[in-house]
Amino acid sequence: MRAESFIVNTWYVAGFSSEFPEGKLQGQTIAEKPIVMWRTAAGEVVAFDGRCVHKRMPLKDGRLLADGTVECPYHGFCYDATGACVRIPSQTDGPIPSRARLKAFPVVEQDGMVWIWPGDRARIGNVRPPRSPEIASPDWDSHGSDPIPVPANYRLLIENLLDITHFYPLHDGNVGDVAHSRIPVEVVEEVNDGNRSVKTIRQVQNYRQPPLFVEWFGYDVVDRYHTHCMMSPGLTRVQMRTAPPGQLGSDAERGFVLYHTHTPVDRTHHVWRWFMNSRAGHRARSDASKPLVALMVEGFPQVVAQDLWALEKQQEMYDLPDDGYEEIHVKTDRAMLIVRKVLAAMETEDKADVSPAKLAVAQS
Ligand code: FES
Ligand SMILES: [Fe+2]
Repeated sequence: MRAESFIVNTWYVAGFSSEFPEGKLQGQTIAEKPIVMWRTAAGEVVAFDGRCVHKRMPLKDGRLLADGTVECPYHGFCYDATGACVRIPSQTDGPIPSRARLKAFPVVEQDGMVWIWPGDRARIGNVRPPRSPEIASPDWDSHGSDPIPVPANYRLLIENLLDITHFYPLHDGNVGDVAHSRIPVEVVEEVNDGNRSVKTIRQVQNYRQPPLFVEWFGYDVVDRYHTHCMMSPGLTRVQMRTAPPGQLGSDAERGFVLYHTHTPVDRTHHVWRWFMNSRAGHRARSDASKPLVALMVEGFPQVVAQDLWALEKQQEMYDLPDDGYEEIHVKTDRAMLIVRKVLAAMETEDKADVSPAKLAVAQS
């Protein structure tokens, strides 16, 4: 299976809510769609085809004017918050063609994230973006990363997140070691509101934590409950609960909920964001004035950099012809293989022709 495709008909994260202050025009490519986005004066984030209807100039390079319209930087066509062209500077004496309108993309803002559906809106049905309630909750301290451009297909990140055996050797000495890679993996596949999810659970008792977790939580030997869940092709949730032996569920428990977003740009690039959350009031052991989340946010980028390095290297290999090459999988790859199956099924549905003409033929 080559890592050179992506699902179009699903919700992807276009950014955290904080990336969309009012008055800021921003553009990005999601699933090979050039998209321009902004937060309107009414507070709503809107998203449109980012190509000016006149001569394809990218509107992200234009300006958001004081009257709330977006001006193309080439000949100045202006668009309102519904995507309609409302002004053509060089032509003030005639009607604006009614077709001069940007195609709108569905947007949902919830739980501190802005989601976009880059595919066919007729296929949304009742599929909603998965929830990430900790991000917007006062019960949690939260911190989101900047967007991280990754020169690799987004599936490689999802597979990485569902495959914890890479904690040795890739993360040896910070969040991993060889004992970590041997913790048994339980795989749970479930369906969640039209978003197909795959989850791994790894439980261990009397376990000696790798160094970064000792620094974060202050316990050398713990009972630990660790899950990774691909909630949809756009979002993976990681939870760690850790406490001295026998004390999970007590006030001594420490841990985090960590969201990873994986948004395809094209077949060989995606944008990765992460959002770290810890219980409000939990402090760093080494410095009681510092929220635990701040300590974790300092240390986590070194882990991300290691994964980034691996994803780039894998993509370099995917870019070459297979030439008879075949992957060999082991027992601990089970979750990854289920993820591949789920994503492949979604891609098949994605490509299925559900045009009215085709449906009419199927029903006759
Ligand atoms: S390309 Fe946008 S106004 Fe001409
Ligand atoms: Fe990793």
